[in-house]
Amino acid sequence: MGPLQIKELLQQTPDGQSVTLKGWVRTKRESKNAIFIALNDGSTIHNIQAVAAPGQFSAELLLTVTTGSCLKITGQLVESQGSGQAVEVKIDDIFVYGTADVDSYPLQPKRHSLEFLREIAHLRPRTNTFSAILRIRHALAFAVHKYYNDRGFFYLHTPIITASDAEGAGEMFRVTTLDLDKLPRTDEGAINFKEDFFGREANLTVSGQLEGELGAMALSKIYTFGPTFRAENSNTTRHLAEFWMIEPEMAFFELEDNMDLAEDFIKTVITYALENCKDDLAFLENRLADEDKNKPQNERSIPLLEKLNFVVENAFERLTYTEAIDILLKSKPHKEKKFQYPVGWGIDLSSEHERYLVEKHFKKPVILTNYPREIKSFYMKLDDDGKTVRAMDVLFPGIGEIIGGSQREDNYEKLLERVHEVGIDPETIWWYLETRKFGTAPHSGFGLGFERLVLFVTGMGNIRDVIPFPRYPKSAEF
Ligand code: 4AD
Repeated sequence: MGPLQIKELLQQTPDGQSVTLKGWVRTKRESKNAIFIALNDGSTIHNIQAVAAPGQFSAELLLTVTTGSCLKITGQLVESQGSGQAVEVKIDDIFVYGTADVDSYPLQPKRHSLEFLREIAHLRPRTNTFSAILRIRHALAFAVHKYYNDRGFFYLHTPIITASDAEGAGEMFRVTTLDLDKLPRTDEGAINFKEDFFGREANLTVSGQLEGELGAMALSKIYTFGPTFRAENSNTTRHLAEFWMIEPEMAFFELEDNMDLAEDFIKTVITYALENCKDDLAFLENRLADEDKNKPQNERSIPLLEKLNFVVENAFERLTYTEAIDILLKSKPHKEKKFQYPVGWGIDLSSEHERYLVEKHFKKPVILTNYPREIKSFYMKLDDDGKTVRAMDVLFPGIGEIIGGSQREDNYEKLLERVHEVGIDPETIWWYLETRKFGTAPHSGFGLGFERLVLFVTGMGNIRDVIPFPRYPKSAEF
C-alpha cells in the first residue's frame, strides 16, 4: 500500500531495481558531472540521494526542484558512488507535485533558531530536529500503551469535558454555548448555567484521575492517556496550557507499589526509545553537543545518551518531604542565602529547591513522599500523624516534577472531611465519594506529563518544542 518509505528503501540491497520515491526536497546541488537531490519523507532522519545527469532534464523543470518542493522520483536503486550513504537512486523521471517558491519558503538548508521555527509551526516538522522529536514522541506514546497493555492495565477513556475540578486548583478553561453578549441571568443576577448546553457549569478537564479511580474500582488496573488543560498563566519552559497526561490508577496498590510502578514505567519507556530511536537520538545528541561547543566546559550538558542510560541504570533516590527539607536547611545555598524563596517545613518546594536536590545533592532522579497535607490535593491519603499525606512526586534533572501521584484516601469520612476543608461542594462529586461507600479499597495512581517525558528524552530545552502545535498564553495559532 502506497510507495515504499525512504527508511525502507535505504535498507534495501541495491541491484538496479526500479524504485519510486515520494518526498520533499531538502537540498539540490549541481556539479559539473551530476545533479544531486536529497529527498526526505519524514520516515527517517536520513535523506535519500537521487542523482541525475546534467542535461537529462530541462532547465525549466530543474528550476522548480528547490528546497521544500514535493517530488515523485522514479529511478534505479544503485550502490552509491559517493561517501555518506550506501545507496542512491539513479533518476529516470521527476514529477513535481508541488513547488516551493525559493524567495518565500521560510525553511532553508541552514540552522534556524527554535524561536523562529515556533513561528512557523506548520512547516517545522520538515526540519531534521522536529521530525526527530516527532518520531521519538510517537515511539514513546507507543511504548506507554505497550507498557500498560503488557501488564494487564486497561486503557480507560475519561471525559475531556467535565463539571468537576479534579485538582481543586481552579485553573480551568470554561466550555459553554451561552451567548456571551446575552448571558441568561438568575433572579439573583448570577449567570444562569442551567440554560447552558450541559445544564451546569462545564470545563475542559485538568486530569482524568477522578474518573480513572472509578475505573480502577471495577477493572483493578487502568490508565488514561489523553489531553489535559490548565489555564495557569505560566510562561515557563516547562508548562503548556494543553498537554497530554498518562494516569495509571491501581486498586490494591499502596504508596510503595505506586513508586515502584512509576520508576519501572519511566525506565521501560526510555529504554524503548533508546532501542528504537537510535538514529534520531544520535542526531539530537550531536545537535546538543554542537550547541554546547561555545559554552565553557562546566556549563556543558552530559551527552544525551549517557544521561538516558544513567537514568535507566540507576535506582531513583527515595526520601520524605521532611528529610528533603532537612537537606535544604543544611545546604550551602540556604546558609549563604542564595535561594530566592525561603526554606522551612510546610513550604511548597520551588523549582530552585527541587533542582538543588536532584542536580546538586543526589545527582539523580528523586522521589519525594509524604508532603504536608495543606499543600497537596484533597484526595490524597492522610498519614497516621495527621500532618502529611501519601503523596509522591518524581523529580528529574533539568525538568523538575515529571510525575505527581499518591495513594488515595479510601476512608469515606476522612475524604468527606477533606472535601469540606478545601471548600469543594460534595454534591458536585457525589459519584466520586460513593466509591468509598460501596466496596472501597486501598488504591493509588499517578500522572506523568507526557511532554515533560519527551523533553527529557530529546534533551530539548523548551516544552513548546516537543508538541506539534503548542498552546500557551496568547498562542493558539496553528
Ligand atoms: O501533579 P499533577 O497536577 O497531578 C495530577 O494532575 C494528578 N491528578 C495525577 C494523578 O495522580 N493521577 O500533574 C501531573 C503531571 C506533572 O507531574 C507534570 O509532569 C505534568 O503533569 N504537568 C504539566 N505538564 C505540562 N504543562 C503543565 N502546565 C503541567 N502541569 C502538570
